[in-house]
Amino acid sequence: MQIKCVGVLTSGGDAPGMNAAIRAVTRAAIYGGMEVKGILRGYRGLIFNEIVPFTTSSVSNIIQQGGTILKTARCLEFTTPEGRQVAYETLVREGIDALVVIGGDGSLTGARIFAQEFNYPIVGLPGTIDNDLFGTDTTIGYDTALNTIMEAVDKIRDTASSHERLFFIEVMGRECGFLALNGAIASGAEAAIIPEKAYEKDQLEDLISNGFRKSKNSSLVLVAESEVTGGAMGMAERVKKEFPQYDVRVSILGHVQRGGSPSASDRILASRMGAAAIDALKEDQRNVMIGIVNDEIVYVPFAKAIKKNKPINESLMNVLKILST
Ligand code: F6P
Repeated sequence: MQIKCVGVLTSGGDAPGMNAAIRAVTRAAIYGGMEVKGILRGYRGLIFNEIVPFTTSSVSNIIQQGGTILKTARCLEFTTPEGRQVAYETLVREGIDALVVIGGDGSLTGARIFAQEFNYPIVGLPGTIDNDLFGTDTTIGYDTALNTIMEAVDKIRDTASSHERLFFIEVMGRECGFLALNGAIASGAEAAIIPEKAYEKDQLEDLISNGFRKSKNSSLVLVAESEVTGGAMGMAERVKKEFPQYDVRVSILGHVQRGGSPSASDRILASRMGAAAIDALKEDQRNVMIGIVNDEIVYVPFAKAIKKNKPINESLMNVLKILST
């Protein structure tokens, strides 16, 4: 099928680099002779008909901006068959032949259901700071968030070492430990407590019994937000009860991790992936997420990308352990 008009939307949690991706999708589509429409507020825009025509100048001066000019939302209506029916009718009425959806796990899950229900062409771009999509080495926004974490932890280190304290620093990741593990390596922290390891061992016990803090006057531990580990607060509560000799503090980095101008890596990644999304549509690909593996663009079927089983690299755990002794 020849695609004449492409719709682009951002959905779920915003991530630095989403604007660079919107720009790349728009410009690559126009370069390829297609029309482009920007859909506001994620899937909400399809249900409430918030759609604007895009030209190359609609995406000028946005490559360096964090957040998303299209706005984003987590849309409950789109999780219902009735909501998706309305969205489909909007697409038909607007003459939009294909969609590029930029978002994380939940957004691509919605895309997969919709594409199957209406036999509609959708290509996804992995836009999330969590890096939790399978089949891609990295996601748009992850590198910037990692750098934000590193800078914050560098600052916390000053106060931790001055007061000789143990800090549990909670980072985002939605039950995934990529930000915590790589953030810990990048900032020279003592350990990362991540949900992926929670069922294997008691990570706090491990940390204490491996002699942490023996030769140090302060300690920084990155904890991935998680119900299974209890996050940084959960860890601190346990330390207060079980190891009261430590002067413990908690710092939850929160949404600061999602903001800011994207790093060069994220801008380049988003630009490559955005252009690749249009190539994929031209090649009649559908229901795939654009991924990057060993610096090469790949197409990952939605079903695979959202399986929630992207593995943690064990050698990184080992590096962190060796370097924190
Ligand atoms: O998926 C991105 C993310 O920032 C997660 O790391 C976090 O758990 C979640 O979104 C927070 O979502 P919200 O901003 O809707 O509270």
